[in-house]
Amino acid sequence: MTFTVAIDGPAAAGKGTISKAVAAHFGFAHLDTGLLYRATGRRVLDGAAPVDAARALQPSDLAGEGLRTPEVAQAASRVAADAEVRAALVDFQRSFARRDGGAVLDGRDIGTVICPGAEVKLFVTASDEVRARRRWKELTEGGHDVSEAQVLADLRARDARDADRDAAPMRPAPDAVLLDTSTMAIDEAVAAAVAAVSERFRGS
Ligand code: CDP
Repeated sequence: MTFTVAIDGPAAAGKGTISKAVAAHFGFAHLDTGLLYRATGRRVLDGAAPVDAARALQPSDLAGEGLRTPEVAQAASRVAADAEVRAALVDFQRSFARRDGGAVLDGRDIGTVICPGAEVKLFVTASDEVRARRRWKELTEGGHDVSEAQVLADLRARDARDADRDAAPMRPAPDAVLLDTSTMAIDEAVAAAVAAVSERFRGS
């Protein structure tokens, strides 16, 4: 059985938490595709050329410590604008999406480019301020010394770069279910996502 759930949206909208919960609920595998770009960005910060860095990625790179920093996030969105970098990462993502047993992939272009035939597509958003507050909390709880204003500026810069690039720009697929989590508690957002998947999964 194959079944793909594509979850896209801007930075810190809640995609990660929702994707993990949906995957756990249905027993699907989960791939955070942002980690592919973060790991590529990390290698570039260490001196590699972007396309070589993407081609050389190993599964162990995705588990690496330190991929969740603001510096790596910005490096990720810079390498992510490179069409050759993106092309180097397509096959891995598509194979993951069609693995036996079902898969949830979260990112920016899953429903539009990587898996346009995904059985379910969600586009998760929240206001800039809500997203910045959530990311600031995560970062400060993880020991990073950063102001909320700086986190907001970083998110906006990254969203603008991700939405305006020529290669696979971030945008909702025409048939995506939009989920604005600005005023939702996390369990409400998860319940809404699970409901959207249930509608299609029961019938498949
Ligand atoms: O966790 P957060 O939403 O802040 O970011 P992420 O999902 O880890 O993605 C980091 C960066 O990778 C994004 O800002 C994008 O530039 C890039 N990315 C992408 O271009 N396409 C994807 N499918 C996933 C991430």
